[in-house]
Amino acid sequence: MSEKITIIKGDGIGPEIMDATIRVLDHLDLGLTYDYQDAGLMALELHGELLPQATLDAIKSTGMCLKGPLTTPVGKGFSSINVALRRYFNLYANVRPVVTFEGTKSKYEDIDILTIRENTEGAYLSEGQTINEDRTVAESKIVVTREASVNIVRYAFDIAQKAGRKKVTAVHKANIMKTTSGLFLEVAQEIAKEYPEIEFNTLIVDNTCMQLVMNPGQFDVIVTTNLFGDIISDLCAGLVGGLGMAPGANIGNDVAMFEAVHGSAPDIAGKKIANPTALILAAAMMIEHLGYTVEAGRIRQAIKQTLLDKDRLTGDLGGTAHTAEFTDAVISRL
Ligand code: NAI
Ligand code: MG
Repeated sequence: MSEKITIIKGDGIGPEIMDATIRVLDHLDLGLTYDYQDAGLMALELHGELLPQATLDAIKSTGMCLKGPLTTPVGKGFSSINVALRRYFNLYANVRPVVTFEGTKSKYEDIDILTIRENTEGAYLSEGQTINEDRTVAESKIVVTREASVNIVRYAFDIAQKAGRKKVTAVHKANIMKTTSGLFLEVAQEIAKEYPEIEFNTLIVDNTCMQLVMNPGQFDVIVTTNLFGDIISDLCAGLVGGLGMAPGANIGNDVAMFEAVHGSAPDIAGKKIANPTALILAAAMMIEHLGYTVEAGRIRQAIKQTLLDKDRLTGDLGGTAHTAEFTDAVISRL
């Protein structure tokens, strides 16, 4: 079987961590082939637009994309490319696992939390964001639909069931956002009844943040709306050593796109010191999605062992190793 994957190297540290990730994938020799496409600042320079139609067509044809972080120019009238990609392909589920790896700066042991974030609506609509002429009143629109809520909650329970997880927590703010968050909560409570074997609870988002820091062991699967999922998944990354450790998948019915949770890290771009772990773990999620479960496990195991080697840690984890040194060490352990 030869799987073709669309690769978008991305901006900032994107090309550095993507090269590292491709080296790891190639070492597994799965017969994957790559179709390189542009998006983000790179595409703006080369093709005059942030998200060329050719890139969209390529992703549509392979159905599988591994993507580096993309910089969206701020305040220049551009809307987020990531949000555009998620909506274009209706990638309704954003799946963000975090696990503790020994050797990282994590203050906690045995964290294993899966955040399932609704990925197409909520507070992430580019339309409906307005500000008046004298810039004294700004408004933005939040939309929650029953359909998207059903899809995301069911996805969370199905994945929990498949992975043998025990508990799903629906995170909301229905006490204040009575209609939008209220609808999400109502749907979550309804769907939960279809899965009596999985423990279910609901939690208000601010309390969730406090609970995550005080007692993260109580969480297993978290399902929530778009903005809360964005914030909570970064918080979860912080529980396991930082953004360099957190992968994510954007799943739709026809297309799946895998990426790191972090952004293009302009402060360290070009220095070849970025931690490639998040994108390598995203690649592991991708090959698992393709059916290579054993090989995905090998990648995670190699990362786990490498992180125990202090001489191989990158700067964000308190070490001095470069991206390539870390990657060499991962490959040598595969
Ligand atoms: P960021 O995630 O790029 O950086 C936050 C901090 O974490 C920085 O100090 C950075 O150096 C560090 N960091 C992130 N990834 C790292 C890694 N792999 N190794 C070591 N250190 C790492 O977030 P920021 O600065 O808010 O955003 C920068 C740009 O990235 C923005 O243009 C934003 O729109 C974009 N972005 C793109 C995303 C995507 O493509 N999925 C997601 C988040 C942000
Ligand atoms: Mg984010």
